[in-house]
Amino acid sequence: MSTLDLKHFLQEQQARVEALLHARAARWEPSGTPPLLAEAMRYSLMAGGKRLRPVLCLTFADAVSQQSSALRVAEDAACALEYVHTYSLIHDDLPAMDDDDLRRGRPTSHKVFGEAIAVLAGDALLTEAFGLVGAGSEPVRIPLCRELALSAGATGMVGGQVLDIAEDRPALMDYLTKLHGMKTGALIRAACRMGVLSAGGSVEQLHQADSYGEAVGLAFQIADDILDVTGDAKKMGKPVRADAAAGRHTFPAVIGLEASWVLAERMVRDAVTAVEPIEGKGGPLSLLARYILERNS
Ligand code: IPE
Ligand code: IPE
Ligand code: MG
Ligand code: MG
Ligand code: MG
Repeated sequence: MSTLDLKHFLQEQQARVEALLHARAARWEPSGTPPLLAEAMRYSLMAGGKRLRPVLCLTFADAVSQQSSALRVAEDAACALEYVHTYSLIHDDLPAMDDDDLRRGRPTSHKVFGEAIAVLAGDALLTEAFGLVGAGSEPVRIPLCRELALSAGATGMVGGQVLDIAEDRPALMDYLTKLHGMKTGALIRAACRMGVLSAGGSVEQLHQADSYGEAVGLAFQIADDILDVTGDAKKMGKPVRADAAAGRHTFPAVIGLEASWVLAERMVRDAVTAVEPIEGKGGPLSLLARYILERNS
């Protein structure tokens, strides 16, 4: 697959995710969600975004199995990952956290709906995510719920967010790697693992997805930190130069831009190697790893 094919592949997969999300969001009001809450949930969820986590989940599932029952589970898992990710963004932008005004090219949820509804829209997306993964009789849905819970919760994303704002955070690589691994890496790693799990992959494939996800997760957050320094707010749809202003411990701040690139490059190479047994050389997952580092939004 060439870089050009990746662009096409990504567009196709993103459109697939949009349709899956749309179908699920259409059930909210009919099943009793107050219209204002549904509007706030949809406002953030359907605002674009790269859909990286669901695309990773579906790409792993497709690589491991083509069975339609497996793909149905993977589709629920993919949407649940995007619900959790979107909730994390709504809460990350709140005045009590990063206090940002722009997300996915739109005013942030609390700017439009007020803080109370923004908090509740995040809560609802998080809870709905488990409703989605748990809704079905396939036994694999139980380990999927556990993967999602562990990656999103106290030892994953939420724990990482706490380390990111801790008063006494040391500017050390070990701390930074741990913080990023939890804050962003855990959910990305879970996306890869959940794709393989949904499709009934082997223990070995799960291990390969795990190594890929861990490497790509770190590369992803290094790129996010670099883009905060070098990126363009219009393309990114969110503010830039915000980390330094907030005194965040980012990779460029701790080891410099150059060393951050070198480290992220190494992570991409590790990810490509890890996934070779699953898709061979030059498959979509290896190109996705490179895209994650070289993206400009
Ligand atoms: C941004 O995530 C927040 C981080 C976890 C660093 P993305 O860059 O995946 O944001 P969207 O989903 O494309 O908006
Ligand atoms: C937040 O990290 C990651 C989440 C868990 C939401 P950042 O604070 O760096 O994300 P951006 O830069 O606002 O997207
Ligand atoms: Mg933050
Ligand atoms: Mg932020
Ligand atoms: Mg950031």
